[in-house]
Amino acid sequence: MMPWPIVLMLAMTLFQPVSADELQSRLGLADKEDGRLVFGSCRTCHYPDAFMGHNNGPNLSGIFGKVAGKQPGFEYYSQYFREAGFVWTPQLLFSWLENPMVMFPDSTMMSRGVPDPQDRADLIAYLMQATVRD
Ligand code: HEC
Repeated sequence: MMPWPIVLMLAMTLFQPVSADELQSRLGLADKEDGRLVFGSCRTCHYPDAFMGHNNGPNLSGIFGKVAGKQPGFEYYSQYFREAGFVWTPQLLFSWLENPMVMFPDSTMMSRGVPDPQDRADLIAYLMQATVRD
């Protein structure tokens, strides 16, 4: 078994996030209302508003710009996330949600993700608004 820092480094280098340009052009076409509906599959585990706190998944308020796996009060992070130390960006989330188990195979997040790229862009557009409401 490789030590964790090496596993993490490998995962982060092998993984190619979507380019800023591609995401930007998809976000240009994105529909936040559609994104709210796409978020329905996440809502069973995540709340976007701070006052709702954690659920089966960590709260997503202010998620963009936060270090992954570090929110106080959420006890169920995988070891991977707890030790990851990367910052969530729209690009990274867009790429992860294409197929969550490929990018972070040891994550405890049981989600099939959102395979369709435009649905994912709609979701990101919704989250960019919904996670900064308070
Ligand atoms: C069955 C419950 C479940 C579903 C459904 C789910 N998640 Fe998660 N999510 C989790 C758990 C548990 C974690 C912690 C993962 C880990 O530590 O490996 C997590 C982590 C996250 C994180 C990182 C949070 C942090 O503090 O670093 C984001 C962002 C996220 N999920 C977004 C989503 C989105 C968007 C969807 C919908 C496409 C979704 N999740 C669907 C349970 C879920």
